Amino acid sequence: MRVLVTGGAGYIGSHTVVQLVAAGHDVVVVDSFANSKPTVVPRLEALIGGPLEVHAFDLTDRDKTESLFAERQFDAVIHFAGLKAVGESVEVPLEYYQNNLDSTFALVRAMQRHGCFRLVFSSSATVYGDNAPVPYQEDYEPLSAASPYGRSKVMIEQVLRDVASAGGQWRIAVLRYFNPVGAHPSGTIGEDPQGTPNNLMPFIAQVAVGAREELYVFGDDYPTPDGTAQRDYIHVEDLAAGHVAALHRIAHQEPGLRAWNLGTGHGTSVLEMIRAFEHASGRTVPYTVVGRRAGDLAAYWADATRAHEELGWSATRTVDDMCADTWRWQSSNPEGYPD
Ligand code: NAD
Ligand code: WQD
Repeated sequence: MRVLVTGGAGYIGSHTVVQLVAAGHDVVVVDSFANSKPTVVPRLEALIGGPLEVHAFDLTDRDKTESLFAERQFDAVIHFAGLKAVGESVEVPLEYYQNNLDSTFALVRAMQRHGCFRLVFSSSATVYGDNAPVPYQEDYEPLSAASPYGRSKVMIEQVLRDVASAGGQWRIAVLRYFNPVGAHPSGTIGEDPQGTPNNLMPFIAQVAVGAREELYVFGDDYPTPDGTAQRDYIHVEDLAAGHVAALHRIAHQEPGLRAWNLGTGHGTSVLEMIRAFEHASGRTVPYTVVGRRAGDLAAYWADATRAHEELGWSATRTVDDMCADTWRWQSSNPEGYPD
């Protein structure tokens, strides 16, 4: 298939590009580089062993999005492009709603106009809100989220559901990621947060490499075995494989929309993650326990049964693999991608 990957220069998109090419797909990337750097492109080309077609523009520009579809024929789109920082979305909600919703509108309209009806969308476990029973199951309703970022995902899921329900040929896979971590085993591509990392794993990695002094552990008084919060960390390589599987599935499924969790089905605590990273890196990760972070939940993980049964996909990589691969990326690229 010829697959358009939006946000293909970003963390999850870049890893997925490599696996799509390995699976025999013809890949085209569009990315505004709002949260990524063009220097990822030659590294991707080295991994895929050839040139990668990259279009640098913002998908919210409807004319440019339309022109791309007018020029090129795509069999499917994987839509990663979006802003994703939960805290920032509280400060600048309009930017988040506008970027995430308008890019999706421009994309889906252009797809519809040009007869491309297969879409894989990047959603998040955050759409389960505060009250869903753990493990999270795909049929849970009502979806809700505690931040503008999360609500943009809830809204887009709803829009896509309505589009698919209106009839026609739409085949849409909504993939709800849990906590993506890790890097390509080559150590040449990985997660490169701009500024202070919001997420646990890149923060731990920066402390281990000496770029930051210590980690703040947000709360050790949760009702969990060691008191720190538990999450379902999933290796980005497993996540990428989930997209290849979803693409295969929607090539054959009946028209409509279906959601799948992409998680391991297991929770790991913050302290367990620190210990696993120390083991993988051979470095000490100094930390101080501070108060809980506003909005954090105590513990959640995926029910990953549906993806296993319907996509033939399961996560195979362990927390030790996640830490070892993150460390390889971080230690060989202590400052991330060059400018
Ligand atoms: P990322 O920021 O590394 O990648 C997103 C890419 O999209 C970036 O390269 C950015 O430049 C690009 N982009 C943003 N807005 C754009 C626009 N309007 N037009 C064109 N390009 C644009 O993020 P990621 O971690 O790779 O996440 C990919 C997707 O997965 C996002 O939609 C995110 O919300 C979702 N997701 C991420 C996580 C996570 O923890 N990383 C968890 C659940 C869901
Ligand atoms: C994990 C755990 C923190 C940093 C977020 C988004 C979610 C999804 C994935 C996009 C929590 C603790 C963290 C630190 C810490 N993204 N922590 N010190 O919050 O589970 O999920 O990313 O869709 O929507 O909310 O991930 O990595 O920020 O935190 O103690 O410096 O680590 O409290 O328990 P989270 P995270």
